[in-house]
Amino acid sequence: MSFTFRNFPTARDDLRADVLAGLAASPKSIPPKYFYDETGSRLFEAICAQPEYVLNRTEQALMTARLTDIAAAIGPVDCIVEPGAGDCAKVRRLLDALHPAHLVVLDIAGAALAMAAETLSNDYPTLGVTALGMDFIHDLETATPWLPAGRRLIYYPGSSIGNFPPDAAIALLARFRQLAGEDGGLLIGFDLKKDPLRLHAAYNDTAGITAAFNLNLLARLNRELDADFNQAHFRHYAFYNPVEGRIEMHLVSLAEQDVSVAGEPVHFTLGETLHTEHSYKFRCDEFSALAQTAGWQPTSEWEHDGFAVQLYR
Ligand code: AVI
Repeated sequence: MSFTFRNFPTARDDLRADVLAGLAASPKSIPPKYFYDETGSRLFEAICAQPEYVLNRTEQALMTARLTDIAAAIGPVDCIVEPGAGDCAKVRRLLDALHPAHLVVLDIAGAALAMAAETLSNDYPTLGVTALGMDFIHDLETATPWLPAGRRLIYYPGSSIGNFPPDAAIALLARFRQLAGEDGGLLIGFDLKKDPLRLHAAYNDTAGITAAFNLNLLARLNRELDADFNQAHFRHYAFYNPVEGRIEMHLVSLAEQDVSVAGEPVHFTLGETLHTEHSYKFRCDEFSALAQTAGWQPTSEWEHDGFAVQLYR
């Protein structure tokens, strides 16, 4: 039907300000959204193909096996909105089952999103596709004028919600309610608490793809903020913290070293960490409590091999 793409790129100033603020904090940290430059987005797709990282494959197996039930529970929708749509692969199953008139996809990696959404648009000629390259975490309001009227379903798969600390997850889910409108819905996937050794392996794949994904952040800062990180002087270090119920991903300094970032000196002591990501894992009841705090009413849930999908209205 139609394909529209608009890019609202993250300003270089945001990257600079976020990174310098994170490097000045103690412990040092960088927001995980900055993983997803072109190389980072490709590495994330490669992570999803690793034998240890079954999260996305498990979710898709669940979606395939339970699609009829899930579609019946959702009911008719005019528009699907997918924040963080990436390669736009996951939503196809829902499009086939729900036949909405519109799809709105959002992602911080605008160029990759545009290509994927245009391909999808060619494959679904009767669907109106709008792709918005934007930082939906901080600027969701930018999407509002692009939303068609009618009943909307927010689709947030892949356990991306786990990359937010609980307070931020609640705030994001509350903003999704505004996107959904009065009679809208939310279909969300999240990784469940499970054997910590299984979780540990998923973020420490033997091929080293997750390590490359983590270290690529330093390459991005070298390129985009004129930094001089030496990747060989940092170690990818990821582990499951059962007290907090999350995977923590760090880059640990292997030496006392000085780095320059956007013209500013940054000192690392030996063994100091640069924290790059949290990936929270939930029980179904824990997640449901979080979503209800954000104002969503639970409708149905499906579970398969350590992964859950829940529907809210
Ligand atoms: C995107 N997100 C759900 C992934 C996760 O599992 O937290 C990102 C990731 N980080 C390392 N591996 C995958």
